[in-house]
Amino acid sequence: MIRIGVLISGNGTNLQAILDACREGRIDGEVVVVISDRADAYGLERARRAGVEAIHVDPGDYPTRTAFDRALAELLLARNVDLVCLAGYMRLVRKPMLTAFPNRILNIHPSLLPAFPGLDAQGQALAYGVKVAGCTVHFVNEGMDEGPIILQAAVPVLEDDTHETLRARIQVEEHRIYPRAVQLFAEGRLRIEGRRVRILDQPQKGDS
Ligand code: GRF
Repeated sequence: MIRIGVLISGNGTNLQAILDACREGRIDGEVVVVISDRADAYGLERARRAGVEAIHVDPGDYPTRTAFDRALAELLLARNVDLVCLAGYMRLVRKPMLTAFPNRILNIHPSLLPAFPGLDAQGQALAYGVKVAGCTVHFVNEGMDEGPIILQAAVPVLEDDTHETLRARIQVEEHRIYPRAVQLFAEGRLRIEGRRVRILDQPQKGDS
């Protein structure tokens, strides 16, 4: 049973998917804390409804982005978190977090990385004219949306797609593959080999 901390900035539908999967036993783990950098993030309400501690940490209260990340790391370490999930968290993770949770931070991004990193991936996909879009769950490193890839799912881009219809189609897949990736982590079945993540048939001792 792993202890999960989730960082959000907004609606939190991926948080909800993880909470639901934990409740239904599809993830052998428990969300123990949800932290938002925005006071009005609806995901904080989702956490409270699920009986999970919900904390707003205001970046404006800290002199630097590093100091902010140090505060986040301390909150998560104090709750014995094993895995940190970024779920619509709109900030780059800095050194204090990466040092506190080496290879223990996951992110979901709404594109088939390495295509369209950064903001508005769906808009980038539409503007570029790709015929296939999708989403990616990956380990987080110091770069923007560029750590080793765990799972991806593809969806078609349809002729009459708008930003909203494409976003909704991708989100269905996000809510499917993010809990799945968290469970693979919980089972100790993810092994990072350079840029590649090997998914083991059997958990191996010492892997995470
Ligand atoms: C998702 O599209 C996710 O891929 C991206 O931010 C969005 C968050 O949505 N990182 P939600 O807050 O989980 O609904």
